[in-house]
Amino acid sequence: MTESIIQKRNGCEPEYGNWIPVKLVGILLSLTIVAFIIFILTMLYSESNLLKALTTLLFLVITFFFGYMTYVRRAFSFKHGGLMGKVHQYVLDCLAWDGKGKLLDVGCGSGALTIRCAKAFTEAECTGIDYWGALWDYDQKMCVRNAEIKGVSDRCSFRKGDASRLEFGDETFDAVVSNFVYHEVRNNPNKEALIRETLRVLKKGGAFALHDLFSNKHIYKDFNGIVERLKADGISKIYFVANTEKTIPLPQLMRMPGMLTGLGILYGKK
Ligand SMILES: C[S@@+](CC[C@H](N)C(=O)[O-])C[C@H]1O[C@@H](n2cnc3c(N)ncnc32)[C@H](O)[C@@H]1O
Repeated sequence: MTESIIQKRNGCEPEYGNWIPVKLVGILLSLTIVAFIIFILTMLYSESNLLKALTTLLFLVITFFFGYMTYVRRAFSFKHGGLMGKVHQYVLDCLAWDGKGKLLDVGCGSGALTIRCAKAFTEAECTGIDYWGALWDYDQKMCVRNAEIKGVSDRCSFRKGDASRLEFGDETFDAVVSNFVYHEVRNNPNKEALIRETLRVLKKGGAFALHDLFSNKHIYKDFNGIVERLKADGISKIYFVANTEKTIPLPQLMRMPGMLTGLGILYGKK
């Protein structure tokens, strides 16, 4: 019997949340309802054609946005479209590691990537850190519970932490991963410093796979420059794949501006 059938029978499936937080969908739903009420009232009571046209447009735009976000959320979801899992697997596939020693997942969210790593590297000790801000549907308890459900709680630990100042000494870990975190870090606009902070806690010769919006010029400006500076500072093997939305690949509808475009992965050995 497969693991997923056992989990379903026991009524305990992991809850990995979603990159589109439920709060955002709730806000969009409320706005859609308000726009609908305004639209109906305008149609019933207004005599201005301009006002009618404007409220119709407003209603259509908000409804479209709500519909699109609902679609994206479903496509991302582990239970439906599975794109979150697909992206995590891509990050894991880029990690050239023998699985011996300790791994860190920076900004682990619901623990999905940390747990995937623990399942793939059966001897590894995996740590996930996250600041678990109010915006997201994630927390530490959720990570711990997910690790228990997936049978890796003895090798997984999760703690609150800040990606811009990791509470670990230099060269603590044998491998580091991170997915879609650095662009979300609000307390440090210097994205290169965030990458360097992650690499600081990695042992010399340790493996890394870091995935974010590295090809987005608004966020990272000249990412190739960052790669060159890291090389010059002695990172022994470093590879950068730009626009990973095309290599993974992700569906065209996901590659709208503001969604999954301008992705990139940085991987190699320190
Ligand atoms: C898009 S989610 C990605 C979560 C997870 N890495 C994944 O792939 O499912 C972004 C995550 O970054 C975390 N985050 C944002 N700023 C952070 C910070 N300063 N330190 C640690 N985590 C942070 C958020 O709490 C959230 O869990």
